[in-house]
Amino acid sequence: MSRNLYDLLGLLSSVAFILALKGLSHPKSARRGNLIGAAGAGVATFVVFFYREDGKGLQNLPLIIGALVVGIAVGVPAARMVQMTQMPQMVALFNGVGGGAAALVAIVEYLNLGNSASTLAVIATVFTVVVGCVSFSGSVVTFLKLQELMTTRPVIFPGGRFVIAGTLVAIIVNAGYVIVQGGNSLLELLALLSLIFGVLFVLPVGGADVPIVISLLNAFTGLTVAASGYVLENILLIVAGTLVGASGTILTRLMAEAMGRSLFGTLFGAFTAKAVAGSGEQESRPVRSGSPDDVAILLNYARRVVIVPGYGLAVAQAQHTIREMADLLTAKGIDVAYGIHPVAGRMPGHMNVLLAEANVPYEQLSEMEEVNPTFAQTDVALVVGANDVVNPAAKTTPGAPIYGMPILDVDQAANIIFLKRSMRPGFAGIENELLYDSKTTLLFGDAKASLTKVVSALKAL
Ligand code: TAP
Repeated sequence: MSRNLYDLLGLLSSVAFILALKGLSHPKSARRGNLIGAAGAGVATFVVFFYREDGKGLQNLPLIIGALVVGIAVGVPAARMVQMTQMPQMVALFNGVGGGAAALVAIVEYLNLGNSASTLAVIATVFTVVVGCVSFSGSVVTFLKLQELMTTRPVIFPGGRFVIAGTLVAIIVNAGYVIVQGGNSLLELLALLSLIFGVLFVLPVGGADVPIVISLLNAFTGLTVAASGYVLENILLIVAGTLVGASGTILTRLMAEAMGRSLFGTLFGAFTAKAVAGSGEQESRPVRSGSPDDVAILLNYARRVVIVPGYGLAVAQAQHTIREMADLLTAKGIDVAYGIHPVAGRMPGHMNVLLAEANVPYEQLSEMEEVNPTFAQTDVALVVGANDVVNPAAKTTPGAPIYGMPILDVDQAANIIFLKRSMRPGFAGIENELLYDSKTTLLFGDAKASLTKVVSALKAL
């Protein structure tokens, strides 16, 4: 394959990645965007089999094919079998592997080049190794937290901030040495220190803030890939890495804003946080629980109902049943809207994807800013498997893990109904005062089972 054809195919793949991002920005075009991105990645992977600058063709072919077979054998079933609610863990893991791979490639390239590497190439290598290793080990910790294989609470230990600062200084000094003096074992030490830093960096982050950190690590991986593109003189890697770095940075900023967080506070807040009274404690105050018939009556006589979906809707896979219920209410002339919080569920856009699966008309979905002013004129706010995104502690309890996060103001509705299985708190692990509010009715049980009963009761009315 000629150099020109190779470059042209690289350019086509880059364009495919940009079109993929454009497509992914709207639910209607997301599937197409995903396919275009996958096609671009496919071309980018296979083109290297047919081109090599020195004309010798690809070496180590059995190893490469072996790695491809292992990757496909693990990746395809994992992507097919993963539950939608486990997607963030999956993204974290894939992201970390990407960062780790870029760091490994940079180390191998550095060992190959030896003293002939230019200073700029060494700087790019050092950057790739540090950021790639931080991204790898940090992503593994976020995976463990989200999969609940370790505690989701911030892990802080005495003198933690000094250990983190010390490790950072050691990394900077070591990186300086590698750039000025070179040395293979120093580079390996740098990789080890960066791996340790990645773990220390993510341990103090509380569960509710983990998504922001995943997105930040994603941006890190993009930058790593772009830098390794510089080391390998591969323009496609530079373009793809820059796209991931830029979109990851924008997503991190948007998520931090949606959760009312500063990035600094998210990463280092645990070192300054005070204990929050009442957090995670089991309460024994009375609540008002109702039957499916009580809920159906409240809904039947409402003029406006706002449904607030959350993580529990995804767990129960009740998206089709909720749509059936909403259709019934609409047929009765009731104004129905869905209030969508930007971080409801466990990944950005989780509720939009879930409801789109049940063909809920896109026009019925209202963003938080749009729906909040309407709660005062809403007769029933039906909270289905959501908790943190409606928890007033975000406004009233300084020091609570979600304090400062904008919430859906369901407390302003005339009636509030919660569909959940127990009095357990949501992801952030804190009590929700709204469950004890005199306007609140609780319908206990799995959301799908409860909604099915409410639908039958509505039909009977
Ligand atoms: P949560 O606060 O986690 O509350 C989910 C609620 O669903 C719980 O109260 C749970 O109560 C209930 N539930 C679970 N399974 C259920 C089932 N089968 N049937 C009925 N109810 C069920 O969810 P949320 O309000 O959507 O808030 C999202 C939280 O996750 C935020 O803290 C956010 O920061 C965090 N987070 C978000 C993301 C993104 S980007 N969206 C990623 C990771 C984490 P019971 O156990 O009593 O049923």
